[in-house]
Amino acid sequence: MSWWRRRSVGAPQESIIENGHSKQQNAQAYKSVALIVGVTGIAGASLAEVLPLHDTPGGPWKVYGVARRPRPTWTENSPINYIQCDISNTTETIAKLSPLTDVTHIFYVSWMGAEDCAINATMFKNILDSIIPNAPNLQHIALQTGVKHYMGIFETETGEKPHDSPYTEDLPRLNVPNFYHDLEDILYEETAKNGLTWSVHRPALIFGFSPCSLMNIASTLSVYAAICKHEKKPLVYPGSKGSWDCYVDAVDAELLAEHHVWAAVDPKAKNEVFNCSNGDAFMWKHIWKALADKFEIEMVGYVEGNEQVSMAEMMKDKDEVWDEIVRVNKLVPTKLKDIAAFWFADIAFFLQNVMSSVNKNKLHGFEGFRDSTKSFVSCIDKMKAYKIIP
Ligand SMILES: NC(=O)c1ccc[n+]([C@@H]2O[C@H](COP(=O)([O-])OP(=O)(O)OC[C@H]3O[C@@H](n4cnc5c(N)ncnc54)[C@H](OP(=O)(O)O)[C@@H]3O)[C@@H](O)[C@H]2O)c1
Repeated sequence: MSWWRRRSVGAPQESIIENGHSKQQNAQAYKSVALIVGVTGIAGASLAEVLPLHDTPGGPWKVYGVARRPRPTWTENSPINYIQCDISNTTETIAKLSPLTDVTHIFYVSWMGAEDCAINATMFKNILDSIIPNAPNLQHIALQTGVKHYMGIFETETGEKPHDSPYTEDLPRLNVPNFYHDLEDILYEETAKNGLTWSVHRPALIFGFSPCSLMNIASTLSVYAAICKHEKKPLVYPGSKGSWDCYVDAVDAELLAEHHVWAAVDPKAKNEVFNCSNGDAFMWKHIWKALADKFEIEMVGYVEGNEQVSMAEMMKDKDEVWDEIVRVNKLVPTKLKDIAAFWFADIAFFLQNVMSSVNKNKLHGFEGFRDSTKSFVSCIDKMKAYKIIP
């Protein structure tokens, strides 16, 4: 059975951390060297966990991880080599990353929001300009984009009709500005010019752990539940009736990391675009029940007849409430604006019929999957274990 399928069905994973050092880090014999760009993000944090595992295909892996902020305390036990660098700054990026001459694989899982195509393109270009000329053994570049490829950018009112779902990878680009187009064009040009392989990953909504993500729905909803509990209010679903009743899909961040690894090492996956989801469907009402159970609060859910209420509006004055929750529960210090993206929940609780086809994955040999509700719950458990949420 292949590695990603075995992990999906729950084979126990051996712990890689011993006194803060990975077993292979001590061995110092690496077959591959990863550069994770956006290592503290929702996808990057999972890649940083999965790549150093002793049985990860292509390994043993040495791992460099880049992010803009200082190394967060929750990564302290990770065996990655952390590099603090603002990759939108060309001079800084060249100075800090061009010495990484042993990189064999780049995993690009970073962005600075969707509004500015130019800044996102500059960030990606800065990485490639720092690594490609200096790393003679570079083989593969994995680029993560997403289903905004099929729907357009949330923030842009373009009038262009999104594609109907389930989305397949062969759907043409929408005729709207989208930084994903810019990133893909850079990827195709640079890999062709330099004889490298590539993969493009288009994940569904990601269920992950990171408190440093621009869009983490699991942390956002957990914070909402924690605030409801603190204020002794029941867990009301603020979204639309349509979104409460419809099927949606998501991808577990760990599965997404396995997907990146698969495409990096399996010849059948080279130079292809793939969607990535758990392979099942869920309803927000399933998640709501799990959320209420985890925070031990009364579950109300969708109230018949209610219009959607904006969570961003509802939560706009709750910074001090969150500070108080952090203080009382002795949590890792976070700010509400960093750990919760209520604007993103507003979009998730409005959209309907957003589903990705994963048939192409199966045709090319990737058979990993997850149970979406269990995946959501495991994110909550992990955030609680790391004292990110109460
Ligand atoms: N989140 C989702 O549910 C989701 C779903 C589908 C697709 N996607 C797509 O996946 C792609 C990657 O997003 P993500 O959600 O995985 O990322 P994310 O969780 O928002 O994390 C972004 C990462 O990039 C780093 N970063 C941002 N600006 C930087 C800069 N100037 N210099 C250095 N590092 C920087 C961040 O570190 P710092 O915090 O230190 O800056 C962080 O590590 C995006 O295109 C997104 O649209 C996301």
